[in-house]
Amino acid sequence: MNKGLFITFEGIEGSGKSTQAIQLAEHLKERGYSVVVTREPGGTPIGVAIRQILLDPAINDMDYHTEVLLYAADRAQHVAEVIRPSLEKGKIVISDRYIDSSIAYQHFGRGLPLDLIIEINERAVQGLKPNVTFLLEIPVELGIERATKVSADRIERESIEFHKRVEAGYQELARREPERWRVIDGIPMVEEVHQSIVRALEVFL
Ligand code: TYD
Repeated sequence: MNKGLFITFEGIEGSGKSTQAIQLAEHLKERGYSVVVTREPGGTPIGVAIRQILLDPAINDMDYHTEVLLYAADRAQHVAEVIRPSLEKGKIVISDRYIDSSIAYQHFGRGLPLDLIIEINERAVQGLKPNVTFLLEIPVELGIERATKVSADRIERESIEFHKRVEAGYQELARREPERWRVIDGIPMVEEVHQSIVRALEVFL
């Protein structure tokens, strides 16, 4: 039922997703596509308020269920307000993170049951799946160093072991659904990574 094309970017902190999402959007706009670039958490005004709670480094006692529900609440609003209406207009939507982040961080990272996360998110998004998901891969130590240079938010300050579980989780997800995932080496220079993404996207356009 998707009329447009729904592209998501996933990866650990500091993997360069946000830069690549913006570059891809620019490239597609130059080619004449109508493109919306957005992110989670915080792709809507309600989402911005939820994001503040989720990433507040002063909060030390958030229950993992609260966390997964807040990410899903942000996502429900994001799908209803931004993603679905844009796809229905035939646009390309590029989201910096989506449900796979909840599976990687809240299931593989936190240890919450996979079926719980899938059920909550299915209700939040009512079946809306990405057409293609790019996983940007860089070593965890490098990503965390890049991401926390200035300051670390509530999730970034988790242990290296936590982030390694998230990374391994992403690799597992990409293995399980190779037709949707495209794994991209995030180590080279920005332009080179961008070209790999553009090449990998061709078959979906
Ligand atoms: P953000 O500053 O947007 O980080 P990044 O640039 O790495 O995307 O913060 C989002 C944080 O929230 C990031 O640490 C990943 C985490 N997250 C989850 O744990 N679950 C989710 O479902 C989503 C969308 C993000």
